[in-house]
Amino acid sequence: MDGYPKVIQGGMGVAISGWRLAQTVSRLGHLGVVAGTALDQVLARRLEDGDPGGHCRRAFDAFPFPGIAERVWSRYYIPGGKAPDSPYIRLPFHGLALPRPLAEDCLLGNFVEVFLAREGHANPVGINYLEKIQTPHLVSIYGAMLAGVGYILMGAGIPLKIPGVLDAYVNHEPATYPLYVSGAVDGDDTTMHFRPRDFMECELPPLERPRFLPIIASNVLAATLLKKANGRVDGFIIEGPTAGGHNAPPRGRPTFNDQGEPVYGERDRVNLETMRALGVPFWLAGGFGGPDVLRQALEEGAAGVQVGTAFAYCEESGMRDDYKQAVLRLVAEGQAQVRTDPVASPSGFPFKVVQLDGTASDASVYDARPRVCDLGYLREAYRTPDGRVDFRCPSEPLSVYVSKGGREEDAVGRKCICNALVATAGAPQVRSKGRLIEAGIITAGDDLVGIGRFMRHGSTRYTAADVIDVIMQGALPEDSAPV
Ligand SMILES: Cc1cc2nc3c(=O)[nH]c(=O)nc-3n(C[C@H](O)[C@H](O)[C@H](O)COP(=O)(O)O)c2cc1C
Repeated sequence: MDGYPKVIQGGMGVAISGWRLAQTVSRLGHLGVVAGTALDQVLARRLEDGDPGGHCRRAFDAFPFPGIAERVWSRYYIPGGKAPDSPYIRLPFHGLALPRPLAEDCLLGNFVEVFLAREGHANPVGINYLEKIQTPHLVSIYGAMLAGVGYILMGAGIPLKIPGVLDAYVNHEPATYPLYVSGAVDGDDTTMHFRPRDFMECELPPLERPRFLPIIASNVLAATLLKKANGRVDGFIIEGPTAGGHNAPPRGRPTFNDQGEPVYGERDRVNLETMRALGVPFWLAGGFGGPDVLRQALEEGAAGVQVGTAFAYCEESGMRDDYKQAVLRLVAEGQAQVRTDPVASPSGFPFKVVQLDGTASDASVYDARPRVCDLGYLREAYRTPDGRVDFRCPSEPLSVYVSKGGREEDAVGRKCICNALVATAGAPQVRSKGRLIEAGIITAGDDLVGIGRFMRHGSTRYTAADVIDVIMQGALPEDSAPV
């Protein structure tokens, strides 16, 4: 498959596949993908930490609309960084319509991440979004396209209406996106709108239309997207249930093993013969970070592989170092454990959690946390009895959730993975004058136990280049051609 990457470094939120990792992978001639989740928050917190290294400043200077850049900068930047016991500024919640300052934060957050990942080389860079987190889509994608993103990858949902958004933005035309609202009835207007010209401070030439790769776990979803999407779908990532992050739920009546993990079976396997017949490129994901697997994937007709777990623990990943080192130690001692938690994520999708003391996987740590919902990315939109659109999260205070029509049983075992994932990226919210610091939650695929293969010469650390070297072992010379 000419012109397509053989190795995609999968998007890993929040900020685990930050610009540093994606830039490294793309420089090496493969496809680096930044995580697109919560980038408004990530940017605000980097600025509140004093923009170490001045990287955000460089990206702000390159942003085409200086008025917006100036406002966002002055909202958050703290020279030298905030005091350790001060909280990060709370951003407004996303909703059907975004308040103007939040839209500007989100626009810049996406621009900065892609701009920095593209800096200093000419290879493409991708961005990954979760379809389920719909409210930031329209502004996020425009921000990423302003920075010249080459690929948009999207999992956790059925993104039928994304291609139309990409096509509209090429000429800075307005775009819309349907918000899924639980309980909505005919006649409700649940459409989100974004007009680039409301934000443009000058005329710009047309933008490049990025390639669009939905992440799927079933043949039916692939066929549906090709048939019903409102524009071109350029290929698919086929992600199996061993992959890190969120997984598609098993098909049929759910069954669980004695650890309470969902059990996957034959029906959850994607038929590759059917995929080949669709005639668009596809990449295999979920346990493809080892030697020889790239060759096998190519022989199966794949364009290549998408790998996450192996990159999540390398030097360039955005995971905070104490967590990364603790997990690498567990791996070296043969003690690493990953559990597929069917309920932790408010998204409703099974979520893989690395078991590590001191993180939210540890019941004593999580149970001591007051239930607070102040980031709200995974909130579900619902129709109120008086016909408005409101939002609720099964991890918010129980009485609030139930008062919004949420069912008590749906809140059992849920965790605030919004706060926990931002904490894992090294920017935990601080509450009660520093007495409460949000603990992180760490995700990885089943492949975690094997990442010792990247550590060379007795080292306990490894780089993204070490991962690429191992994946390329066993590949034929022509397989290593750059993107
Ligand atoms: C730490 C981590 C975070 C992830 N976050 C996301 C995400 O935000 N969006 C997404 O589509 N996939 C996410 N994934 C899945 C990866 O993009 C990739 O498809 C998967 O890791 C491939 O399987 P592997 O983990 O066995 O290599 C994540 C994976 C990991 C390990």
